[in-house]
Amino acid sequence: MTDPSNVELIHPLKLFDIAKNEKRLLYTSAPMVRYSKLAFRQTVYAYGTDLCWTPMILAKEFNRNRFARDSDFTISTNGPQPPTIVQFGANVPQELARASSLVAPFSNGVDLNCGCPQSWACAETLGAALMEKRELVRDMAVETREQLRRDGWGVDKEKDISNPKGKSVSVKIRVHKDIRKTIDFITTVLGPEQDRHIDWLTIHPRTRSTRSSTPINLEALEILTSTFGTRVPILLSGDVFALETLPFTSPTLLTGTPTPTITTTTAPRNTIITTTSSSKHPPHNQNPPPSPVASLPHLSGLMSARAILCNPALFAGHPACPWPAVETFLNNVVRCPLPFKLVQHHVSEMCGPGMGPDKSALLTKPERAALMACGNMLDLMDFLDAVRGVRRDGFTL
Ligand SMILES: Cc1cc2nc3c(=O)[nH]c(=O)nc-3n(C[C@H](O)[C@H](O)[C@H](O)COP(=O)(O)O)c2cc1C
Repeated sequence: MTDPSNVELIHPLKLFDIAKNEKRLLYTSAPMVRYSKLAFRQTVYAYGTDLCWTPMILAKEFNRNRFARDSDFTISTNGPQPPTIVQFGANVPQELARASSLVAPFSNGVDLNCGCPQSWACAETLGAALMEKRELVRDMAVETREQLRRDGWGVDKEKDISNPKGKSVSVKIRVHKDIRKTIDFITTVLGPEQDRHIDWLTIHPRTRSTRSSTPINLEALEILTSTFGTRVPILLSGDVFALETLPFTSPTLLTGTPTPTITTTTAPRNTIITTTSSSKHPPHNQNPPPSPVASLPHLSGLMSARAILCNPALFAGHPACPWPAVETFLNNVVRCPLPFKLVQHHVSEMCGPGMGPDKSALLTKPERAALMACGNMLDLMDFLDAVRGVRRDGFTL
């Protein structure tokens, strides 16, 4: 957190606007504890993702501990700095406001996690436990907005859309078993009709206890987007596995291969693994899309977590991870290091079958096992080079 000069100073609502003008949904990558770190964010940004979330950061620790600040939040001072939303876990208005004040010069907006279902978080009234504390969530949003305003940032939502000092305050939620409680929650958190408290809302349409293997609750999403989607932009988080097989229709959902126009202009300069082919997978689907079952005319954007972890090129229209995306990630890791085990896990995810209908994988199962046996970065790079060399010569391992 040293040099704010390289932060892409675009108001996130402007990105929503650009996507809308292009008649498409906004593409975002989800907050993922451990995984949505800088090198990964840069990678997805290079492949058509418009807006990237950091992992959840505990506001209280962040405010009190310099080491927490240094390890939890890194930005690029020399290279692609994707538009970034810093997500916090907090349950005290002043804590969220203070932490937001600290990251504001280095980010495009801040977000409050009201969805983490883990028992340690809920025991501390963090994450999904906040779904039972709607006034507190509202107060945290209001206090944060006021603090940012006092700091000199533009926090008047659409009015500040072209203000280079414009910042957003948003909230990510789950739904309740009884959807009326979610409606009450959103009504409280949004506040006044003409001057809502939050810039946008991300909805993960599962309850705190729904397993991630259970499909999202589309009926709840349909109700919530039709009730609130004209008042506040809404992002869907959950089961965004492939652009062409989403189980709903929307006027802003392009069919066919999307052509994102908000892509990085600062692609990594050096390629560590040399390659001649551009992509293993042409951007097309192997399976026909399922028939959509819901209509979501007021949905503004998509957020992907598990699928984009496997395929960072998801929003560029690739149905499975292409080799160049792995190379881009490794190049980014060299400039913005991650612990080796984390890199290994990322690469293994990218090289395995993804979450979408296209189950082709860059590495076979035995190859992934060999990848996981690598003990350091050099071994890992050598291993991937060797596999790719064999592929180029037309053999399989
Ligand atoms: C490894 C992992 C870490 C996650 N960490 C966070 C987090 O820090 N904050 C958050 O709001 N959600 C977090 N989530 C939830 C995702 O953001 C997302 O809402 C959920 O996985 C559903 O989306 P998906 O079907 O695209 O995976 C995490 C999910 C995964 C898989």
